[in-house]
Amino acid sequence: MKLESIQAAEKKLLLQTYERHPYLFVGGEGVYLEDEKGDKYLDLLSGIGVSALGYGHPAVEKAILEQSRRLIHTSNLFYHEGTANLALRLIEISGLDRAFFCNSGTEAWEAALKLARAHAGCLRKQGKQIGRKFLALEHSFHGRTMGSVATTHKDKYREPFAPVMPDVEFVRFNDVEDLKAKFSSDVCGVCLEAIQGEGGIHPVSQEFISTARALCDSTGALLLVDEIQSGMGRTGKWFAYQHYGIRPDIITIAKPLAAGIPMGAMLCTDEAAEAISPGLHGTTFGGGPLACAVALAVLNTIEREKLLQHIVEVGEFFKAELHKLAARHECIVDVRGAGLMLGIQLNSAGLAQRITASMMERRIIINRTSETVLRFLPPFILERKHVESAINMLDELLSTTYASASPAGEKSHG
Ligand SMILES: Cc1ncc(COP(=O)(O)O)c(C=O)c1O
Repeated sequence: MKLESIQAAEKKLLLQTYERHPYLFVGGEGVYLEDEKGDKYLDLLSGIGVSALGYGHPAVEKAILEQSRRLIHTSNLFYHEGTANLALRLIEISGLDRAFFCNSGTEAWEAALKLARAHAGCLRKQGKQIGRKFLALEHSFHGRTMGSVATTHKDKYREPFAPVMPDVEFVRFNDVEDLKAKFSSDVCGVCLEAIQGEGGIHPVSQEFISTARALCDSTGALLLVDEIQSGMGRTGKWFAYQHYGIRPDIITIAKPLAAGIPMGAMLCTDEAAEAISPGLHGTTFGGGPLACAVALAVLNTIEREKLLQHIVEVGEFFKAELHKLAARHECIVDVRGAGLMLGIQLNSAGLAQRITASMMERRIIINRTSETVLRFLPPFILERKHVESAINMLDELLSTTYASASPAGEKSHG
């Protein structure tokens, strides 16, 4: 099927949730995707942070092949070899105690919200005073299901589906006084992304996250950190919260966890986990043999290929090059992020939209989020030479496009 016929068929047959870019990819190798004409695209987005080992990585292919020959699904009514092995590894790298496996980011976040509510219920039974309210952050993004949209800040994601989960209040980003003012014994959980992704690559401040931790400790509320975009090494540490020296009560991971085989996980402390007993929560597909085998292969590969160190090195080089670009182009108003989770903020949404489209036309995939931010979430195996090509192209496009940029509307992401 040709691109045009697929476009026509999708227009008629699919729920119109996405405004896709007009490209048809049929394969990929390393950090490159290949379209139906055989043209290669340098991928600095990795399927919105999923294909962390790039395309066609032998370790991923081997795990899929071997496990799919042995066993793909058993259901959670029975044991298989993968779940405990994967949980052990995730616990080692996170410092948390227990794992719940599911199939996507939003499902992991729903589990986190449910656990925080159930945990508060247990505390109330013990006579403690604690309510049901969540505090979430302005510009946050936690997913598309009802609890996740309730804790997601943008009105346009919530309002058409109202009423979403009640008892959520938004705190101004990095505003410690606002956090203190809104926190009380009514709160069962404080929700945050250590680095906001869809919100435009905004790292939370040390003071803000430390205050959130201390406030939660003062009442027994839980600190929920969403690592769905920032986790599994993307920022140069296994998890972005590890840059801050705090331990959350719950974290959620997904995107790169099983390299594109759908998988999410919620990790939590033993203390929080006590609120859940058999039957209270579950999912048919979560933690199946195939997803677990691939996730273990991903973890082993990140360790064996020393990718955390590599991410730090290439990420620092990338960020320094973006700063140099910002010094040359006044339309770049900020450079943010850590490791290979980077963004540059431009001074107009129209310019950001045109640059993103022009980069695609020149076969470099980047993405625009939060209207004015060019976001880079490349595969962890990205090398300096790839960064150099992207920077050169951005340099050229910013010089030629800036003068004629015009404002444009907002697109949906996530
Ligand atoms: C921080 C964060 N949380 C949650 C989600 C939702 O994940 P999923 O799309 O797998 O449901 C995303 C997706 O972009 C995300 O970036």
